[in-house]
Amino acid sequence: MQVSRSLFDEVMVPNYAPSKIIPVKGQGSRVWDQNGTEFIDFAGGIAVNCLGHCHPALVGALKDQADKIWHLSNVMTNEPALLLAKALVDATFAEKVYFANSGAEANEAALKLARRYAKDKYGEQKDQIISFKQGFHGRTFFTVTVGGQSAYSDGFGPKPEAIVHAEFNNLASLKAIINDNTCAVMVEPIQGEGGVLAATAEFIKGVRELCDAHNALLIFDEVQTGVGRTGDLYAYMGYGVTPDILTTAKALGGGFPIGAMLTTTDIAKHLVVGTHGSTYGGNPLACAVGLAAVNTVNTPEVLNGVKAKAQLFRDGLEKINAKHNVFAEVRCYGLLIGAVLKPEYSGKARDFMVAAADQGLMALVAGTSVVRFAPSLVIPDADIVEGLARFETAVANVVKG
Ligand SMILES: Cc1ncc(COP(=O)(O)O)c(C=O)c1O
Repeated sequence: MQVSRSLFDEVMVPNYAPSKIIPVKGQGSRVWDQNGTEFIDFAGGIAVNCLGHCHPALVGALKDQADKIWHLSNVMTNEPALLLAKALVDATFAEKVYFANSGAEANEAALKLARRYAKDKYGEQKDQIISFKQGFHGRTFFTVTVGGQSAYSDGFGPKPEAIVHAEFNNLASLKAIINDNTCAVMVEPIQGEGGVLAATAEFIKGVRELCDAHNALLIFDEVQTGVGRTGDLYAYMGYGVTPDILTTAKALGGGFPIGAMLTTTDIAKHLVVGTHGSTYGGNPLACAVGLAAVNTVNTPEVLNGVKAKAQLFRDGLEKINAKHNVFAEVRCYGLLIGAVLKPEYSGKARDFMVAAADQGLMALVAGTSVVRFAPSLVIPDADIVEGLARFETAVANVVKG
């Protein structure tokens, strides 16, 4: 059967508007579509393909596990899940791990755990969750309500309650809301979907202190920033501020669906048998790939490489800007990169993304005025140079109009 973009409109729910390009093959940071047209991938499946496409360590782990056992349910545990949990515990602040299938599910678990912990320890009244405007935490009804854009949660009937939003990077705004009935503060150390904007070190430190003062749990949503994206295994390590709960997904599976919630023994013990669960959480295939991803990324070569490659991106984008004058600011937090458009191009990030695709470059947007890149953490330098050359042509085309 001939598969074309029009089949999408015929058979798929219309909640996405995908590009007309249908990729069929990927290798490293290159992707080919049905017609054999080649693209350089600066998108990484939205910060997912941390080792590019078909990395041998991930392919090997998947194939190896595929010949052993695929699924068991949580009635029995399995070796890959325990090995991945052990690797995450060894590499982070965490003492306990819960596996899910996505970022939203990891966050859902974190929020439910925070509510349960507070109820058990302090009583029913301690149920308030604080998060931040422009934050993004997923699309389940709980997580999308905690997210900081009400447009995403409006129109679905009554919302989960006791959720309030403070201003990101504004400690006074949090201070005005937080109180002894706050059970948790959920924050992305770097807002990804909200425009690639990092929390200041002072803000993150202040949030930690306010949580401690009110016995509220601090939840870091590292779904986008985790697994090496910033040049640290997790962004919290760069800030030197430790959360009580951390969620990770996207790059954790390098393209295979998996999410995880990490926490301490003292907090984890409140999710007793029967309180939460997931059929596929801890699936052996996902965990085998996840273990290979974590082991490959958590090395000095890869993590230091992220910092060096980030500099290449920054220099290249500044050079493009010196010529075409389109960006107000270039933000590089490791390989989470946001080029903020100048007011005269405000709202036009999509135009840049489409123009990039026309030049054989896969890019992303974050909101309507930031062009975002989240490439493979091991993208060859030559692909960065060539991808940026393609991007420069795309920028020139947008500027020409
Ligand atoms: C910070 C953050 N949290 C949560 C999510 C949701 O993850 P998922 O789409 O895997 O449910 C995302 C996805 O973009 C994200 O960037």
